[in-house]
Amino acid sequence: MIPNHPDSNPTAAPCIMVIFGATGDLTKRKLIPALCNLSQDGLLPKQFAIVGYATNDYTTETFRKMLGEEIPKFAPAQLDLKVWESLSERIYYVRGDFQDSEAYKRLKEQIEQADKTHGTLGNRFFYLAVAPRFFSPIVNKLGECCLTKEENNSWARVIVEKPFGHDLESAKQLNHDLQQVLTENQIYRIDHYLGKETVQNVMVFRFSNNIIEPLWNRNYVDHVQITAAETVGVEHRGGFYETAGALRDMVPNHLFQLLTMTAMEPPISFDADQVRNKQAEVLHAIQPLSPEDVLKNMVRGQYGVGTVDGQRVAGYRSEPDVSPDSNTETFVALKLQIDNWRWAGVPFYLRTGKRLAQRTTEIVIQFRRTPFVLFRNTTVKNLETNRLVIHIQPEEGISLSFGAKVPGSIMKLGLVNMDFDYGTYFGLEHSTGYERLLRDCMAGDPTLFQRADMVEAGWNVIQPILDVWRALPARGFPNYAAGSWGPIEADDLLERDGRSWRRIGEEEVDKRGRIAIPDRAGIIT
Ligand code: BG6
Repeated sequence: MIPNHPDSNPTAAPCIMVIFGATGDLTKRKLIPALCNLSQDGLLPKQFAIVGYATNDYTTETFRKMLGEEIPKFAPAQLDLKVWESLSERIYYVRGDFQDSEAYKRLKEQIEQADKTHGTLGNRFFYLAVAPRFFSPIVNKLGECCLTKEENNSWARVIVEKPFGHDLESAKQLNHDLQQVLTENQIYRIDHYLGKETVQNVMVFRFSNNIIEPLWNRNYVDHVQITAAETVGVEHRGGFYETAGALRDMVPNHLFQLLTMTAMEPPISFDADQVRNKQAEVLHAIQPLSPEDVLKNMVRGQYGVGTVDGQRVAGYRSEPDVSPDSNTETFVALKLQIDNWRWAGVPFYLRTGKRLAQRTTEIVIQFRRTPFVLFRNTTVKNLETNRLVIHIQPEEGISLSFGAKVPGSIMKLGLVNMDFDYGTYFGLEHSTGYERLLRDCMAGDPTLFQRADMVEAGWNVIQPILDVWRALPARGFPNYAAGSWGPIEADDLLERDGRSWRRIGEEEVDKRGRIAIPDRAGIIT
């Protein structure tokens, strides 16, 4: 066991959680429901308190009341009222501006008082659920009031929500600002993808199964596909999205988490830095993109009007707070190469977009073809390849397809699936995805949080794309209909290489249960 690893000590240490931006959506949708779940599972320390801080006009009483009314709408499982009541008594509110020194004095007094009342031993962590422009000012103010000081064995940590910068330079600046006040060990850069069970399972699946690891390399893998498809549009976030776009919003963070988990070398232990070193190595090994690579291998798209889930929906340019001639991309597809011993020559295709045909996040490992020798004198014309699909969401599981003989006197092959479904095996977990991450922060385990160098390495890969796209604004937007699988160029990206995206949602299962009809080629005869 690794000392301090949360799995060796399930209940986290006594502490206070201070939420900046406590009246925003994240608190009621995710953070408080996650704390309720932790408490219900006996994983929250008894000596625990929450201090909410925001500019809105609440008192401790009205803040508790507001949360009490809102939480049941968002808690993923039936809320245990006793749990909520006991948590609610430990919630406090301080009203203040994020830059107002006087308000920080009041915050400090409230923290000290709660510390005495709840015996939290001077331990505290600050959750910055605020717009990114406030990250540095808040951390500065915390530093000025000595709230980030660790003395007498107490600890102070800061959780920073994404986005960590909007390009390489701003990410470096943000890291620099935070590190003026905090040590790297005190900074927890959160990426909610790492709170997903299925994402954490990628590492477990790879490194706890002896039959997998030997195949996980260029000798057996033809290519890898990572898809994060959403059916929603930009919802009420048009203003933010206009300045971000799909590339910044999803790729250097969520998709790169999936990529590094898939491609990393085995760490020598689950120690935070061992794991993160291996993830960082993957990012450093991604082949730098020349402007020609960007033009050839990066596809951008924007949705126009279309139909999603049977509903007619507006195009991106008609969404609230979006410019009617916006050139912001709502879809990206990329081809990346990882220049290392394990993956040389194996393309990684990534795609993500809004208003696509189906909500799916998955990682596909497409294995190489076997030699045709055995079937040369039969009617079998094509040999399909093995494919492993790690379903991240909404389906959660793993499926492996392999060739099998279709019963009958003529040699016919079909692809069949071996499926593992999380829900069936383990029952449904009512989790917000934040439980594990909050507990890890309380326990001082940063394994599932991004380190400064990882953030910068991610932006380093993306920066050439931002540069080329800025110099050559997109033409022909919108270029895909809402409810489709994105622009045709995304298909061309793989077709050029003689490959195709896995056709999500189009597999067919025959009456006997399992024969799937996979790619464009259809069933193999
Ligand atoms: C967020 C992005 O980080 O992740 C959103 O800002 C996106 O645009 C969301 O919708 C996707 O998260 P999930 O968990 O629904 O896949």
